[in-house]
Amino acid sequence: MSMGNIIVGQSGGPTAVINSSLVGVYKTAKDRHADKIYGMLNGIQGFLDERYVDLTEKIKDNLDIELLKRTPSSFLGSCRFKLPEASENEAMYQDIFNKLKKLEIKHFFYIGGNDSMDTIKKLSAYAKEKNYDINFMGVPKTIDNDLAVTDHTPGFGSAAKFIGTTLKEVIRDGLVYDSKNITVVEIMGRNAGWLTAAAGLAKAEDCEGVDMIFLPELPFDVDKFVDKTINLQKDKKNLVIAVSEGIKTADGKYVCELNAASSDFVDSFGHKALGGTASFLAHKLASEIGCKTRSIEFGTLQRCASYVVSRTDLSEAFLAGGQAVKAAFNGESGNVITFERTSNDPYHCTTHSYDVNAIANVEKKVPLEWITNDGTYVSDELVDYIRPLIAGELTPIMTDGLPRHLTINDLNR
Ligand code: F6P
Repeated sequence: MSMGNIIVGQSGGPTAVINSSLVGVYKTAKDRHADKIYGMLNGIQGFLDERYVDLTEKIKDNLDIELLKRTPSSFLGSCRFKLPEASENEAMYQDIFNKLKKLEIKHFFYIGGNDSMDTIKKLSAYAKEKNYDINFMGVPKTIDNDLAVTDHTPGFGSAAKFIGTTLKEVIRDGLVYDSKNITVVEIMGRNAGWLTAAAGLAKAEDCEGVDMIFLPELPFDVDKFVDKTINLQKDKKNLVIAVSEGIKTADGKYVCELNAASSDFVDSFGHKALGGTASFLAHKLASEIGCKTRSIEFGTLQRCASYVVSRTDLSEAFLAGGQAVKAAFNGESGNVITFERTSNDPYHCTTHSYDVNAIANVEKKVPLEWITNDGTYVSDELVDYIRPLIAGELTPIMTDGLPRHLTINDLNR
């Protein structure tokens, strides 16, 4: 039986495995007899400008599928676009539904985080209210791991694997000179510290780990930070300190705002562009302590390092896409695929389909009991929670010594 036409989009910040979810949607829809499979370019924002592609023309064979799974960033491009409420701008909703009608869309999939799920929430509610026969399903993704309800979110495991791997290397490099030096490393995650907590993975048999970890869940005191660092350096010349990009002082100011070079940009969800925390703190330490300091901002590297992808994460990203298609083809709408961990060792997870209203716009923070009492490290339980998510590798397909990717020429033109 034909399941009609589908459309899929990607939204928000990319991850190393977001395209595996796209492949999950694409393959499952194809195997289950979807007719046309469209991909919107730059998410709902691009769709409003009628920018979409026929995905079957872009993903031609099994090699393309394997390349796409190994391609970081959003194949279809992305957006940070907040749909107005239908009561504020019904014309925009009518425009979207007219465009969906024109393409005879029966199922709509959006791969995104908590902000992007706001789009699924609003469109599915409008479709229900107006009796449109279109199913809207959310496919979860975010390196921030801050989605409510789900145990974890695809994209996080691979970013965490990059953090653990790279920090082990940075720590080794820091040990090279027999003189005092401090490296401050800044990790993404906005207002949730899950990804910064992955710095705890670096502690292993062959690595003593980072010396302090600061999450945004607790207020950050710059003077106390300097004192703690001075104290630590009495016993150890080389220090590596991990800080979240989102740490704030007690008065609610991002530490990066203390950096004169910080950006003023704010996106349509009201999120400030973060960055510059590590460089501010490294300069502060240099001026207070007088030793060599260095700042490293992992920046986009942590969400696009597909050469160090977690196979577990990649498989779960695919699964989330596939399960969303199965749910929509069963008539579900207004839901998001979530993961439930049924066992940690051996690791086992099942999936569910959950009401988007509980997930859209909600930020899940690290529980305080998973941060040490002095606020300078994470607990073993938190590292144990992350560890299974980074398991396994997927070898890149190499061309001329570099990983090969699948790309389209239609983006941002
Ligand atoms: O999507 C999450 C995230 O990667 C955050 O960790 C980070 O603060 C933000 O996106 C960066 O936003 P942008 O991709 O718009 O620069």
